[in-house]
Amino acid sequence: MGVDSLGYVAFNVSKLDEWRALLEKVFGMEPRPRGDGAIDYRIDSYHHRLTLVPSDSDSVTVIGWEVATVAKLEATVDALRKRQVVVTAETAALCDERKVKQLYSFTCPMIGNRQELYFGPLVSNTPFTPSRGISGYKTGALGLGHVVYWVDDLSASVKFYEEVMGFAVSDYIAWDDNDAVFLHCNPRHHTLALMKADPGPAGELMHLLVEAQSLDDVGYGYDLVRDMGIPVMIEPGKHSNDHMQSFYLQTPSGFWMEYGFGGREIGPDWEIRNYDAPMLWGHRFVGA
Ligand SMILES: [Fe+2]
Repeated sequence: MGVDSLGYVAFNVSKLDEWRALLEKVFGMEPRPRGDGAIDYRIDSYHHRLTLVPSDSDSVTVIGWEVATVAKLEATVDALRKRQVVVTAETAALCDERKVKQLYSFTCPMIGNRQELYFGPLVSNTPFTPSRGISGYKTGALGLGHVVYWVDDLSASVKFYEEVMGFAVSDYIAWDDNDAVFLHCNPRHHTLALMKADPGPAGELMHLLVEAQSLDDVGYGYDLVRDMGIPVMIEPGKHSNDHMQSFYLQTPSGFWMEYGFGGREIGPDWEIRNYDAPMLWGHRFVGA
């Protein structure tokens, strides 16, 4: 039971050109236009990891969790249904759009967003061709990266992700008005973090992290962000818990993306810690 990694994320975006510039010029992702106006983005061997859908409003339409086996997928669906969560077996047409073999969807009772569980991602037989000269992304068994969501009920949400979705706590950070719990489902330090929705808006994505294979990718990316006038929200720095060296920018949809390198991984001797600051150094808040 439980999920194995973050697989994909899709967004409705009102500023497609600005989004294209961000994902292609800064992050070097490879666009794969779908033919219906949407653009899938490839960052590794998978067909795609991100999708932009042109819209008159901005939202995160879905996050997709990968599950390694059919048996585990079915067990996770059963666990959700035992909690009275309505889970839908999705159509072959949606499987084809997502490029997966089998797909379920549900509305998370804690975050309130649409989530999908899938098995069997399509991989490409050709090499990833980045839009700029980057070394690529750290994905594989670690998945796409991590997402951080604001929730109303932090302890109930953590319990749900532990008991139904198969996550385990990595550590805790409480600082200023913030209270955050970090959770893993594979060796990536956290695939999901949950923050008490005070001051943040419950149910909203705070940020999505993607992790580069080299610090230089992040450094050059930071220069590009500054040159292009994209808002930097948190200056470069290193996190206290996962040791990620990163910076945060504001996407054209409002939520943030973290571009990082060097996150440490959870091993068998991992010990849960409680921190009173999210950074070892740097990571000064800039704001809009
Ligand atoms: Fe992060």
